[in-house]
Amino acid sequence: MLTSSQPALVSKLPHVGTTIFTVMSKLALDTGALNLSQGFPNFEPDPVLTDLVARAMRQEHNQYAPMPGVPVLREAIARKTAEVYGISYHPDHEITVTSGATEALFAAITTVVRPGDEVLVFEPAYDSYVPAIELAGGIPVYVTLTPPDYAPDWLAVQEKITDKTRLIIVNTPHNPTGRVWTRDDLNQLAALVRDRNIFLVSDEVYEHIVFDRNGESNRAHHSLMSHPTLQERTFVISSFGKTYHVTGWKIGYCLAPNELTAEFRKVHQFVTFSVVTPMQYALAEYMNRPEPYLELADFYEQKRNLFLQAIAGSRFRFTPTEGTFFQNVSYAAITDEPDYDLAVRLTHDIGVASIPTSVFYHDRNDYHILRFCFAKDDDTLKRAGERLSAL
Ligand SMILES: Cc1ncc(COP(=O)(O)O)c(C=O)c1O
Repeated sequence: MLTSSQPALVSKLPHVGTTIFTVMSKLALDTGALNLSQGFPNFEPDPVLTDLVARAMRQEHNQYAPMPGVPVLREAIARKTAEVYGISYHPDHEITVTSGATEALFAAITTVVRPGDEVLVFEPAYDSYVPAIELAGGIPVYVTLTPPDYAPDWLAVQEKITDKTRLIIVNTPHNPTGRVWTRDDLNQLAALVRDRNIFLVSDEVYEHIVFDRNGESNRAHHSLMSHPTLQERTFVISSFGKTYHVTGWKIGYCLAPNELTAEFRKVHQFVTFSVVTPMQYALAEYMNRPEPYLELADFYEQKRNLFLQAIAGSRFRFTPTEGTFFQNVSYAAITDEPDYDLAVRLTHDIGVASIPTSVFYHDRNDYHILRFCFAKDDDTLKRAGERLSAL
């Protein structure tokens, strides 16, 4: 309660409440529903990885890590990046270990954005981008992606770029839609930013989760680092949470050219200074084997297919997701309720929690689409599918 002597705090984020992920996960817990809402696995990581943490702790890796991350982890990240993308980032000057991708996003946005700067945000958008822009005094400018394919309209992007545009935030593979940008998308973006004073933040936390790579689509993850015009101005951000099923560890990293990293680290060192030490040593050693990240896409493709088979007979309509561990489904053939109401009702009535996609749009655009997370054990996916098919 506010007493008369207390100063009045004026919110810097008046529109921000508790995130939908917290709301739906709590509702799922309270009602005992199957939780396909928040994006985290309901299964455990490889015990080899957790054993490595215990070993690192016993080996006395329990004090502050160096501010940019422990050297062996930065070296492992550099090796992996060179192997997967053929691009070299120097572990000493161009790689920073962060407290999850979330901190990397916050630090990168804070590094670039000054009061009055405009930042292009493709929406639906992951919910941490806009608050970070606003805290830095920036102005989010929205480019709307619409179902069914959520392809960027490059003419619309061009029209939104002004002299004040300082940053564009990219997310591929994309949460919540699962859309994976093509090489052509990268070329289009490069044509727009070339010769302009515009930086890029590329949220690539689902870099290893791209589907149907061998089919007609010839789909692949195209990192912004793989395009020279983009690479020189981009903060590429990833997260071990998504790749190794350890979202609770909150460890990610940022790759950026020397000059960008130098400024990025000034922010990072006063947001968290450094990241939990024993986990860094464990991750460094675990990264010696490429199989866990190389096999991740097949692992999740099997889960995507299982979930889609389980809802194939339902009245939901969908296009198989291209990447991430999210599947969007349209419920337009079932009801015209607002998506938020339906997500809450389904949690209560049939015991399946999802995320209404309108929450990812600043104007709450409701296309009657729910997002389901299929990073769940097979039994949970089958049971959820049965319940959804009975609707
Ligand atoms: C697109 C996107 N970016 C960033 C994050 C945050 O990653 P981390 O848990 O490593 O902070 C998430 C997590 O759901 C995400 O989906």
